[in-house]
Amino acid sequence: MTKVLIATEKPFAAEAIPQIKKVIESAGFEMILLEKYSDKSELLTAVADVDAIIIRSDKITEEVIAAAKNLKIVVRAGAGYDNVDLAAATAAGVTVMNTPGQNSNAVAELAVGLMVMMARGFYNGKAGTELKDRTIGIHAYGNVGRYVGQIAKGFGMKVYAFDPFLTKEAIEKDGVIAVDSAEELYAKCQYISLHIPANDKTKESIGYDILSKMPKGAVLVNTARKEVIHEAEMIKLMEDRNDFSYISDIAPVNKDIFAEKFEGRFFFTPKKMGAQTLEANVNAGVAGAEQIAAFINNGDSTYKVN
Ligand code: 3PG
Repeated sequence: MTKVLIATEKPFAAEAIPQIKKVIESAGFEMILLEKYSDKSELLTAVADVDAIIIRSDKITEEVIAAAKNLKIVVRAGAGYDNVDLAAATAAGVTVMNTPGQNSNAVAELAVGLMVMMARGFYNGKAGTELKDRTIGIHAYGNVGRYVGQIAKGFGMKVYAFDPFLTKEAIEKDGVIAVDSAEELYAKCQYISLHIPANDKTKESIGYDILSKMPKGAVLVNTARKEVIHEAEMIKLMEDRNDFSYISDIAPVNKDIFAEKFEGRFFFTPKKMGAQTLEANVNAGVAGAEQIAAFINNGDSTYKVN
């Protein structure tokens, strides 16, 4: 029987599991659950005889792929697949998919929620500021970026976006102002919400030069990946500008330096929690199971990324 492993170091909400299981069993497959594993060896053992794996930010390395002799497909229940060694998967004939859009609203709500928290001084009782009439720049206008734009418009913010892969028309049909470059976006916007993927081109791409273009009271909100920030340059910038704040969904490597130097100007979630909602977990988990069923039973490779 086809075996589908759900390998989630950070588990889906408990209520999502029966819904995912139902899809897997309706397709005629068996579901195996490996949650909250603390050591890579547990993953290596669990993958040994499975045909398919559903993961979140779990690392699917060359070693994991080599240990999974029957593996045909890995579905990253979520958007970013920088945690999967695509070259190793391709070399082993393993299809890799993501589930675009399924957890995007959750991430967008967190991004805007974090902006409110920063604007209100972490709810410390003192006078803060409002988001209304402020400028926000959405860096990469994909599924999460679109939701951030919608929510920000609801707050009365002036919404700009830059996306190198989209035409201006595609962005402006949503009533969002498209700009010609990332530099222009950062120069125009007090808030920047970051939604670029982490890859060889984008890692450490957000550094001193571009961030220093942001206007007074700048707030960078990163619900993308910590790896896209050049941390040493970010620290230098925050030393040079005491009006600059940084919010990140998952702490940077140098979090202790931020704590020591920039009190009140940063916030980091203890564990990546953008997609940590019941709705996002159900949507992404069920979509992952459906995609595996369609791939194995009908050869449907929609959402294949390798
Ligand atoms: C994603 O890329 O979909 C998000 O970063 C969510 O990641 P998570 O499933 O590990 O929470």
